[in-house]
Amino acid sequence: MIIASNFKTNHTRKSTLKYLKKLEHFVTQSGSKQDVYIFPPATALDPFSLPPRIKVGVQNAYPVEKGSFTGEIGLEQINEFGLKTILIGHSERRHVMGETQKLCAQKFEYFQEQGFKIVYCLGEPLEIREEGIDSVIDYNHAQLEGIDLSYENLIVAYEPVWAIGTGLTATPQQIEETLTKLRQKIKAPLLYGGSVKANNTKEILEIENCDGILVGTASWDVDNFCQMIEIADNLA
Ligand code: PGA
Repeated sequence: MIIASNFKTNHTRKSTLKYLKKLEHFVTQSGSKQDVYIFPPATALDPFSLPPRIKVGVQNAYPVEKGSFTGEIGLEQINEFGLKTILIGHSERRHVMGETQKLCAQKFEYFQEQGFKIVYCLGEPLEIREEGIDSVIDYNHAQLEGIDLSYENLIVAYEPVWAIGTGLTATPQQIEETLTKLRQKIKAPLLYGGSVKANNTKEILEIENCDGILVGTASWDVDNFCQMIEIADNLA
């Protein structure tokens, strides 16, 4: 299973190091078999030396090596730390920062060319969910425009916008129905994200076609996150 944590705009450089130290200790001691991904804020990046099961990635980057893009980081800045994993298309980038599908696809193409592991996010807002499953699938398919689904280093995270950071998790039935329909098009591992917590991790990981979770809020506490990894380890 893939167990991923998105720090968003949380944690400092110091607290990220502390977090990773605890996480490393847990993963090593428990002999966990999960593929763990951590996306800290850009200010906390470092050439981390971690066991191969723990990968650190960037939450965002501009699709350039370097240049005049104030406030952004590019390939040169990521390469300094030897990182090869990126999150693209997160709902906060799309809906808060106004990132278009065209820009998401440009980022995808650029970082695909660089051989990055890409966790590509998609998900519908509430008004689309309320229209029913056909609208949900159409909306999510539109977020695949310009995305090479045959890319071998791809992971797709389905994260309904209305479930992110709201405490409102999609029901297992909603998740299962959506992932099953997305699976017809997407062969890459599929994650669910949106208010995943230790107490719903098991039922979500047991859903057919669900290959893991992308966790925000509940993962910012390292003990909580380790608990989720442990739940994945204990699955039959
Ligand atoms: P949440 O965030 O767990 O706080 O809902 C999930 C995400 O945005 O990846």
